[in-house]
Amino acid sequence: MNATDDVSPSPLPVHLAVIMDGNGRWAQARGLPREAGHRAGAETVREIVTECRKLGIRYLTLYTFSSENWNRPKTEVAALFSLLLEFLGQEVPRMEREGIRLNILGDIDGLPLAARTALRHGMRRTAANDGMVLNLALNYGGRAEIVRAVQELLREGVSPNDVTEESFARHLYTAGQPDPDFLIRTSGEQRLSNYLLYQCAYSEFYFTPVPWPDFRVPQLHEALAVYGSRSRRFGKTQEQIDAR
Ligand code: IPE
Ligand code: IPE
Ligand code: MG
Repeated sequence: MNATDDVSPSPLPVHLAVIMDGNGRWAQARGLPREAGHRAGAETVREIVTECRKLGIRYLTLYTFSSENWNRPKTEVAALFSLLLEFLGQEVPRMEREGIRLNILGDIDGLPLAARTALRHGMRRTAANDGMVLNLALNYGGRAEIVRAVQELLREGVSPNDVTEESFARHLYTAGQPDPDFLIRTSGEQRLSNYLLYQCAYSEFYFTPVPWPDFRVPQLHEALAVYGSRSRRFGKTQEQIDAR
């Protein structure tokens, strides 16, 4: 037994959401094309996914491509999707082995055919895994997700009284999943950029200046330690929380 064994571990988020920002600036600071930043960012994804699985985080949600990212130069969008295919080719077999279930949040039908096919294949191959859910938010926008949920409810002819927070949440891409406990955004920006607008009602936020390619295991541990020190009250008083 070593000295740290009797220290009770600080709570881990059940659901960790990340806005992986700063690939472009990371590359530009090195005189490299933005695509090189995305490639370096993909390496970070591998490392962070592996570590989260190891730590026992149950849901990891990565903002991979927003519905607004279509406004980027065509060449950058093409590079991002070719990187996604490469990533899935290498990582799906590993996810299969390591008990990770791949899931997509967003409008899959609006993605290029090759990406759609690879993603569906990845989801099928990992469907039975229950070690950790890896949500990739792809062609995702929070407002569009909410509007889509309203459309589905109307289409089902649900009566207004039957629209509850629970029934509404069942029509979101995250149906059946707990809300993110912790949201990390890298690279200095302090905004949501249309990410998980409904689900982040009570998430703890963490902003770091570190760009995504440099956000590695030590930086993740540092962020998780901060999460562990936060006091989540959900509208109650601290005294009520302490009395539990
Ligand atoms: C995040 O990095 C990756 C995607 C949005 C796909 P950025 O590409 O936004 O990097 P910056 O913000 O321009 O540095
Ligand atoms: C958010 O980052 C989207 C992803 C990380 C995929 P952006 O770089 O697109 O966000 P804005 O444009 O700076 O708000
Ligand atoms: Mg950005």
